[in-house]
Amino acid sequence: MRYDYEYFDAGLNRVATRCEKWDTMRESAVRPDTLPFWVADMDFPSPPEVTRELLVRAAHPTYGYTDPRQDDFEAVSGFWRRRHGLELSQNEITLLPCVITGLKVAIRASTTPGDGVVLMTPVYGPFMSSVTATKRRIVDCPLVRSEDGRYRMDFPAIEAALADGAKAVMLCNPHNPVGRLWSREELSRLYETVARYGATLISDEIHADFVYGGAEFHPMLSLASARVVSLAAASKTFNLAGLHQAVCFCRDPELRAAIRDEINATGVRCGNLFALVATRAAYNCGDAWLDGLLEYLQGNRDELARLLAEQLPRAVMSPLEATYLCWIDLAAYGFSEAELEDRFAKAGVCFSGGKFFGGHYASFIRFNIACPRRFVAEGVRRLRAALEM
Ligand SMILES: Cc1ncc(COP(=O)(O)O)c(C=O)c1O
Repeated sequence: MRYDYEYFDAGLNRVATRCEKWDTMRESAVRPDTLPFWVADMDFPSPPEVTRELLVRAAHPTYGYTDPRQDDFEAVSGFWRRRHGLELSQNEITLLPCVITGLKVAIRASTTPGDGVVLMTPVYGPFMSSVTATKRRIVDCPLVRSEDGRYRMDFPAIEAALADGAKAVMLCNPHNPVGRLWSREELSRLYETVARYGATLISDEIHADFVYGGAEFHPMLSLASARVVSLAAASKTFNLAGLHQAVCFCRDPELRAAIRDEINATGVRCGNLFALVATRAAYNCGDAWLDGLLEYLQGNRDELARLLAEQLPRAVMSPLEATYLCWIDLAAYGFSEAELEDRFAKAGVCFSGGKFFGGHYASFIRFNIACPRRFVAEGVRRLRAALEM
């Protein structure tokens, strides 16, 4: 199989598969032909080995209790060694139903109710709800944006929050939605700051595999171990989110024990039968597919930047170093959040609205480019129509 431009450009029709991105969205859409660029999954088939292995397992017509085996953990560690140079022992890996569960479990394991937890908006909405749902306090240290739309961390603000007693810092690396691939220097500085105050660093690395132009992703665990927990999943990389499986990496024995205690206390049972099959197949056999995907997505990113510059020059797209989620500021067009929503609905286009990522981002949209390139072009055409109507 060749995972080339034609393979990804063919895409696939997901309508009437009960998927959130197309079907749930269209249930409330003004126009029945609305195109979705919101929820973070992809309009591409997963690697064929995944489908093949799922079909083989499904053909055995009983689906009883199932346990993860050594080869499940080896599939995870093999992939992270090959792709990111990270060595993980089986004991350092804990299965989770999803990364959001991991965020909550990590917060509960490393802090107590009422504690401050640092996050950096704009950030994936469940970072905030994970803090509030666990009865901790959000301490927002917003990312700092420069004129070209690139963001950096506000280290003095993070240090001040820790000095003020915050007990954990939530990092999104690479960062959804601003597309930053944090450098080794930035990550080291963050870790040193967090460690100085004895706090815990919770690193969400679910987008680790979406890195462009030969740039290198740095796993937090390649820099430090004490009071660090990382969360990852094959789900984002290989489009398996409906199967619900993620992993937690932790080398700190005390923190790891606390995390496992929390998982046990919730009664969550990990190791979904089909998720194990799919994750094993994806991590063991998905490299060529993933390399082809990254090339295709890089082309989509460049095409979106070109089309925006040509058709909507006042929109500011943050440079996309990683992820397939483009962060675009439409403030120059002067519409309120409600006006933007109304215009998008009438133009038949659906983005993630900026408010999902923090209170101050109503003029922003997040544009998911993990779809055939013709949809990206049509998305820009509809975005322009919305802004000009
Ligand atoms: C940064 C980040 N973390 C977590 C998730 C969700 O992961 P899961 O479905 O495993 O909970 C997403 C999904 O978009 C995400 O972007």
